Amino acid sequence: MISSANGLKACARAMDVLKAGGDTLEAVVQGVTLVEDDPNDTSVGYGGLPNEEGIVELDASVMHGPTRRAGSVASVRNIKNVARLAKLVMEQTDHVMIAGEGATRFARAWGIPEMNLLTERSRMAWMAWKQSQRDGEGRNNWTDGLDAPDAKPSAALRQIWPEASDEMIAWAFDVARRPPTGTINCLALNATGEMSGTTTTSGLAWKIPGRVGDSPIIGAGVYVDQEVGAAGSTGRGEENIRIAGAHTIVENMRHGMHPREAALDALKRIARNFHGDEKKLGSFDINFYALRKDGAYAGASLWNGRVRRGSVSGFQFAVNDGAESRLEKCVYLLERKA
Ligand code: GLY
Repeated sequence: MISSANGLKACARAMDVLKAGGDTLEAVVQGVTLVEDDPNDTSVGYGGLPNEEGIVELDASVMHGPTRRAGSVASVRNIKNVARLAKLVMEQTDHVMIAGEGATRFARAWGIPEMNLLTERSRMAWMAWKQSQRDGEGRNNWTDGLDAPDAKPSAALRQIWPEASDEMIAWAFDVARRPPTGTINCLALNATGEMSGTTTTSGLAWKIPGRVGDSPIIGAGVYVDQEVGAAGSTGRGEENIRIAGAHTIVENMRHGMHPREAALDALKRIARNFHGDEKKLGSFDINFYALRKDGAYAGASLWNGRVRRGSVSGFQFAVNDGAESRLEKCVYLLERKA
């Protein structure tokens, strides 16, 4: 199993399913379901950061190596486990992709319970973002009016969430400033050479309602050809869609590249789309994960890491080869200085 860095538990669960003789797709779906259920992972499922209207919209895809089938859902509201829903689209329809209201109605038809996916934590981050927007006069209808006494921006959040810790409020302002595109991708290879993959996400925070990222796009967010390997992505989906990243990486492996070089080549294609302009490239992050049919694997990121409090924290990815899940370092294309 390999996955994005938020998938240590997902890889462990998926490995348990494989060890019990389960199917590779069932394994990765059960793995990422743990993350979709976790309100503290604000990039996936329940508690994911919402769109600009404060509504959580989820995207997911699955690909099953043994049958070469795929399924995906996009812009789904009120359904928590969208990787499972994408699997249902694959198994129980003659379609590959269902989006928006149709996806929620499809889930309803299968008796999947609906729920509000916005947690108080994510609502706080959304409110911090709403309150940070300014017009040309420096005003914002969502903050206290001109007649209000001067107060720190955090005071409004404190009023609504008096129990919130300083750390949580700082986090809310941080994600308001730099909308994250976290996601989980998880890829599996079993002992008989069967492979599957899934990617699930709440997408870009504060997106325009209906915006679809790379995660549900077969060939971008995930791709599996078990005669060659599998690949997936997290990070800014718009850039991945423009190079069909997961498919590109699998094709690179088909032509003999190691997963590391295959993923780095995909990142070079992204850099080329910006003519190598490091200022523009520096405004986003994107990571690829690649697993070859012989078990060779890699995680690769556009940048060496994120700058936090003056130092660069490197990107990692999760691996489980039968024992405990562990994090390994991603190789990278470009270097941010602290
Ligand atoms: N990679 C997740 C997204 O851009 O939606």
